[in-house]
Parts: sequence; structure tokens; C-alpha cells
Amino acid sequence: TDAHTAGPFIAAIDQGTTSSRCIVFDRDGRIVSVDQKEHEQIFPKPGWVEHNATEIWTNVQEVVAGAVAKAGITRDDIKAIGITNQRETTLLWDKNTGEPVHNAIVWQDTRTDALCKELGRNVGQDRFRRETGLPLASYFAGPKARWLLDNVDGLRERAEAGDILFGTMDSWVIWNLTGGVNGGKHVTDVTNASRTMLMNLHTMQWDEKIAESIGVPLAMLPEIRSSAEVYGAITGGKLGDLLGGIPVASALGDQQAALFGQTCFAEGEAKSTYGTGTFLLMNTGEKPVNSYNGLLTTVGYRIGDEKAVYALEGSIAVTGSLVQWMRDQMGLISTAAEIETLALSVEDNGGAYFVPAFSGLFAPYWRSDARGVIAGLTRYVTKAHLARAVLEATAWQTREITDAMTKDSGVELAAIKVDGGMTSNNLLMQTLSDFADAPVVRPMVAETTCLGAAYAAGLAVGFWNSTDDLRANWRRAAEWTPRMDAEHRDREYKSWLKAVERTMGWLE
Ligand code: G3P
Repeated sequence: TDAHTAGPFIAAIDQGTTSSRCIVFDRDGRIVSVDQKEHEQIFPKPGWVEHNATEIWTNVQEVVAGAVAKAGITRDDIKAIGITNQRETTLLWDKNTGEPVHNAIVWQDTRTDALCKELGRNVGQDRFRRETGLPLASYFAGPKARWLLDNVDGLRERAEAGDILFGTMDSWVIWNLTGGVNGGKHVTDVTNASRTMLMNLHTMQWDEKIAESIGVPLAMLPEIRSSAEVYGAITGGKLGDLLGGIPVASALGDQQAALFGQTCFAEGEAKSTYGTGTFLLMNTGEKPVNSYNGLLTTVGYRIGDEKAVYALEGSIAVTGSLVQWMRDQMGLISTAAEIETLALSVEDNGGAYFVPAFSGLFAPYWRSDARGVIAGLTRYVTKAHLARAVLEATAWQTREITDAMTKDSGVELAAIKVDGGMTSNNLLMQTLSDFADAPVVRPMVAETTCLGAAYAAGLAVGFWNSTDDLRANWRRAAEWTPRMDAEHRDREYKSWLKAVERTMGWLE
């Protein structure tokens, strides 16, 4: 907390995969206060992941109140609040009671694998790619909604009668913030909508035909809005008393928010965020660019009435969550930071490769039927070698994405702008630079996800005037450059790719 920072301020909520947090920023984009709370990860079956949306909403209210209290400010000091969120995680709730009808199905969940195969039968995985930019894979929201409609008793009738609302976490949070059952706004933004597989990238509207093919009634879908505009004001409930009237002025999927927070406003600029998963997005300007190398075409952001800006995305499902898994499920380390110390106790991976295909493989493979493997084991291998293999997995997966990005865009990345929790791991950052053979650059504010949501909200209410103002806030904090010789790198990359092959086809 910087007690000397003068207001006014912008607040941002990041409703993420493992936690919800709220950060208050000043005009220079500096952090004034942070509050954060984890929520339960529910694993009902292999490959299934759920969240309790009521717990999440409670946590969101607590962290907003917490961040405001820590900053020692009141409602008049806050000009707007922005929202960013884990994407694709799907919730259906009753609009009359405000109660979720089921736990939210998390983006990592693979239960719709069979449904996606069925939807692609005879036509292939790219059935909706031209309109939506996405391959048929269990990652996206539309089929998750269909699964709920098919599997919760009586739900389809209630949905067709107009009593059920669909939303990704942005919609759930905004609806609750703006009044919930008492007139809450049922909206989403273009970036979140672009991950449902129900939005047409060219018209920025729900695609009726695709919604019908996937089996999702249009009546339950939110209105699609830009990423930076006032959707409503904080109303009612605990937060209403504390912060009533503050405009809710931005919504962006967390990866798009990080793109915004890293000020990647020009075509060809890219960032890579290291959270539970890792997502590399490149700004491709005002036209959607098709991918022929396993990337997604997605919306980067849209500021008010301006034209939308598109992005190419390489999504990796498991990076930070592999470290968590080593800690929580395997008990090989007791804190996430220990992975680095343990890995540094050996020279190399000892011949072991770890492909964490826990949610299938995302980009560039899109195989929901892949499952994790550890390959190359001998009696020689220790847990320290595995720790190295864990970090290398993140670096190799990023390398696969940068390769695809270069092929699709024709642009060689001059440097990888990174952010997110894992970037405090120096060994990982050096390995990343070595494997991708590119400089890796980290900005001063590593909390770029919240920062991006704050920027968008601040633009919407005139707190900042233009993206140029925002660019001026970006400052380099650290840089890593490649040190590995090319022959060594190529040999290791081949072994990695061999291990990747071993992950596929486990559900056949
Ligand atoms: O698409 C999933 C992504 O939005 C999740 O991000 O930061 O919660 O891993 P994160």
C-alpha cells in the first residue's frame, strides 16, 4: 500500500480460476491496495472441474470491500470498477431467485468431449471455425451449457420459458453487482462472448444457427456489449451500502485484459500470461486472422463504439496448475516457490519429460482425449529432475505456441512480454528464453490482468483519455536473453515432441 498516492482511483475485480481478487489503481497505473481470496476446486470425476458460483460471489464482495478498506478510501474516491475473469467457465442460474442451478463448469473440464466429437461428426472439428474462430473442443462454453441443459432435470423447459440465464463469470458478477434479482444487468462483453462458440466474430452477435446446432436457446443468452462502457452501477446488497452508485464500466476475459494491461494496442504486439494456464495473445488489428496452425481467432477488445480489435491466441491449459498439483496432489513440494529451489538443485531434467495434458491438450493440438504423461523415466530420476521437467513443460508449451504464431502471422516475435504469478520464477523465465530463443521481458506491474480491466473502465468514464496515456505507464522491470546453444535446444525439443505424442488417444 502506498499511502502517499492521491486519488481518484479505479478498482478492478479479477474473478480467476483459483481465486478472486480486487486491486485499486491510481492514475499512473500503480497498485494502491490488493485483496484476494481462493475458492474451492471441485473435482467430481477424472477430467471434471467445477466451482461453486455462490462461494465465488461471496468472495468477490469480500475482496472488493477488503481492497477498499486497505486503501483507506470511500466511494467518492473510486471513479469506476472494471471486471475481468476466467473465461469459458459456464454458469446457468435462475433469474427469479438468483440461485445457480448447478456448480459452474470450469474451462478445464473435459466432460463435453463426446458431445464435441458428436457435433463434429462427418464435418470435422472445424465445423464452426469460420464463424467463431474456434475448433470444437471441450474448452468452450456453449457445449458446457448444452451439457447442463441435458443433465439437470427439468432445466430445458425452465430455460425455454425464459427463467434461466446463461453467463460466463463476467455476466454472473455484473448481474449481481448491478442488483441481481432486482434488475441486475444481464450482459457480457465481446471478448467473453467470443469464447462461447456461439458468437459470430464478424457480426459480434449471437449466431442463431450455431446456437441451434449446439442446442442453446437464445432466450438465455446475455446481451453482447463492448469491453469498455458503463453497463450499470453497483446496486443493493452489502456492496450497495458501501459503494452504491459506482459505475461498472469494463469487462474483459482475463487474457484479453492482460493484453490490454500490457498495452499491446498495435498490430503484432503480443503478451504471454503465466497463471494456472498460459495464454499467448497477439494483436492482429481490425480484422480477424484465420489460423492454420492450431491457434484460436478471438476478440482482443472493443472500446465503446470503436471498431473491435482481434487477436490470435495460443492457449495452454496447464502450467501453474502443474506446480499446484505437485504441491497438493503429489506432496513433492510444500510451497509453489519451492519448485524453483528444487529444480536448481540439479543440472538438467535427467532425461525426464512431463506433458501435463490434464485437460486434454489445447493449442496447437486440440485433443480433448489426451492425458498427462511423464516420459523418459529411469532409476536415475529424482524429484528434483521432475521439478525441472515441470518448469520445462511450461517453456516447451510456450515454444510450440510461438512457432504456430510465427507461421500464422508471418511475424517473428521480437520479444515475449510476460506477466502473471509464475514470472517471479527466474529459472523458468531463463528456460523460456532459451527454449523459445527470444528475449523475455517483464513489466513493472506484473498484475496486468487487473490493470487491463482498470484501464478499460478508466477509459470508459474518461479517467484516462486515450490508449497513449496508458502506454506511458508501461515500464520494463526485468529481461532474460537466450543462452542455450541451438543444437542442444533442437535435441531437447525433439524429445519433448516425442513425449507429447505419447499423451494422445487415451479415451479411445
Ligand atoms: O481461458 C481460461 C483463462 O481465462 C484462465 O485464466 O489466469 O485463471 O488461468 P487463469
